[in-house]
Amino acid sequence: FGYINYLVEKDRKYILDTLVNGLARLEYRGYDSAGLAIDGDKKNEVFAFKEVGKVAKLKELIKEENPDLTKVFDSHAGIAHTRWATHGRPSRLNCHPHRSDPNWEFAVVHNGIITNYKELKTLLETKGFKFETETDTEAIAKLAKYIYDEHPEIEFVALVKAVIKELEGAFGLLIKSVKFPHEVVAARKGSPLVIGVRTQKKMKVDFVDVEYAEEGGLGALPAERASHNLALKKSNNLLAPPDKSLLHRSQSRAFLSDDGMPMPTEFFLSSDPSAIVEHTKKVLYLEDDDIAHIHEGSLNIHRMSKDDGASNVRAIQTLEIQLQEIMKGKFDHFMQKEIFEQPESVVNAMRGRIDLENKNVMLGGLRQYMTTIRRCRRLIFIACGTSYHSCMAVRGAFEELTEIPISVELASDFLDRQAPVFRDDTCVFVSQSGETADSLMALRYCLERGALTVGIVNVVGSSISLLTHCGVHINAGPEIGVASTKAYTSQFVCMIMFALSLSEDRASKQARRLEIMEGLGKISEQFKEVLKLDQSIKKLCEKFKHQKSMLLLGRGAQHATALEGALKIKEISYLHCEAVMSGELKHGVLALVDENLPIVMILTRDDIFAKSLNAYQQVIARKGKPIIICNNDDQEFPSDKADKIEVPRTVDTLQGLINVIPLQLMAYWLAVGEGLNVDFPRNLAKSVTVE
Ligand code: G6P
Repeated sequence: FGYINYLVEKDRKYILDTLVNGLARLEYRGYDSAGLAIDGDKKNEVFAFKEVGKVAKLKELIKEENPDLTKVFDSHAGIAHTRWATHGRPSRLNCHPHRSDPNWEFAVVHNGIITNYKELKTLLETKGFKFETETDTEAIAKLAKYIYDEHPEIEFVALVKAVIKELEGAFGLLIKSVKFPHEVVAARKGSPLVIGVRTQKKMKVDFVDVEYAEEGGLGALPAERASHNLALKKSNNLLAPPDKSLLHRSQSRAFLSDDGMPMPTEFFLSSDPSAIVEHTKKVLYLEDDDIAHIHEGSLNIHRMSKDDGASNVRAIQTLEIQLQEIMKGKFDHFMQKEIFEQPESVVNAMRGRIDLENKNVMLGGLRQYMTTIRRCRRLIFIACGTSYHSCMAVRGAFEELTEIPISVELASDFLDRQAPVFRDDTCVFVSQSGETADSLMALRYCLERGALTVGIVNVVGSSISLLTHCGVHINAGPEIGVASTKAYTSQFVCMIMFALSLSEDRASKQARRLEIMEGLGKISEQFKEVLKLDQSIKKLCEKFKHQKSMLLLGRGAQHATALEGALKIKEISYLHCEAVMSGELKHGVLALVDENLPIVMILTRDDIFAKSLNAYQQVIARKGKPIIICNNDDQEFPSDKADKIEVPRTVDTLQGLINVIPLQLMAYWLAVGEGLNVDFPRNLAKSVTVE
């Protein structure tokens, strides 16, 4: 998160407070440590604070060290970061911002991974730089200082451009420097960055031009970067004389009012809009290879290379999210709020898309490509985590309705195998954030091989939604809780609509399609019903207190429900929970079953119900005492034999939507029961933008 303003002193708010609050909004993305750096009042003065733990700890530290969190400084330019450790354990040193030297000449915050940081580090160490952290980011700050010291007249953008040329990997970064006071430069490649603009009067500007500064001899290193020796050789390039054209400022884009006058402006830079919406709804999204320069009240956007096919303007868009959407409201946790939002979010996924009268599903974002998809040789679903489970949950429905061969892939494994992909494949990327590095890399892999790509994404404007040929937004609204809940059910519904749409020309499927569509029409009400089980599930969870392990059994499509339930339980309650395909129970896992092991069995009705009952009998026969998730009209299970969670019955294809909700609630109450931080489980992050 970054903040910079050009307001007169009386209008200036408190920069430290603004930065800390911005970080708090982004905390769900990573929360093992947090830090910030701002310009001080004196020349070359920087205030930097870093603390291990959550943003609240950083706030405490600032209060201790500088009791005036509300101090108004001469200049208001600051950068801040909340971290999810990749390189280096969480510690004050490893936390961002990172600095070029003890005087903080250059300070950097960074999302992503710099894959060649070791080479850069080795190179810079030979130039006398002393590295103080275990992070990849530190190399960026030190490289900036190195190039600056070699070319002291260089402009800020030219400098950042020269730095970026040396970086391999992914980044969304903000950089500030005492050499360029009251300025911030932002750059993105692979990690999202959005800039919010707030002006005091009504703003006339609705786009920002993209500029290009000619490339110079600065820092253009050869492509090969294998060894230390090579890095040493390459260092000479960094000493090449700067191109004069890089030394001049390009014309500024000041923000004008209706009368055409430049006006005092504030800029908010963030990894996502949730930290911006409380300040302004006017935002622009940076694209890969954009460098944004904020100085003297204006914003300039530069490209890394000329004529690269990118659009030459960045539109200023109006955010549609509301502040209350990213607040907890009456709930104790975001996860709880999001579980209870599902009756509504599922309707938002379907709004305007299902026409029951005409038995029609309309997915505008796919229309143009529908014929191609129908003719594809296979549909490959690629995702990670919960999104992968939602693909697993709808696989059977796709096979049944479309009769197209389907495969479901974990993005990382798919890439590890370098799985064959062809031009006549359709690859569907399912992601809540649209930024997950593994999924994004798999997408690029499929694009290179000429496949048609489809995105099923929640975050509008995210990398996956921009890079895919076509797609469907699931419209679940911001999901803040690290454990995904409403995104799962909305992905599920959107993919079912996709399958319905693909099968609309199949005469033999019409009755089934209608049955499913009618089921979708009732699902929201059924969600409300199942959510009424909340308190009884809370009570049931008391039985599991202090348990170490648990089994979750399901068969057919309900195996995916079990997988998702087990993931929820593991990630927030830290209770080891294994999902088992019921048919496989007898092939090994049955050995674990006794009267003590907690077991949950999904036994709602479908065409393989009789087989699922076999597993139930096998468990009972071993004195197991399973908790059963069954339909509320089912007489099969006597109450004295097992605890029951009775859920409404829907079409078998959709039953997984309903069945997952008690498991979400179970995970929630197990975690609360253990006194754990539900929204910020240890070691995890909402959006994993590293491989
Ligand atoms: C992270 C999150 C998971 C999520 C997965 C995929 O691991 O903690 O909850 O399911 O990423 O994220 P995506 O945004 O691609 O759905």
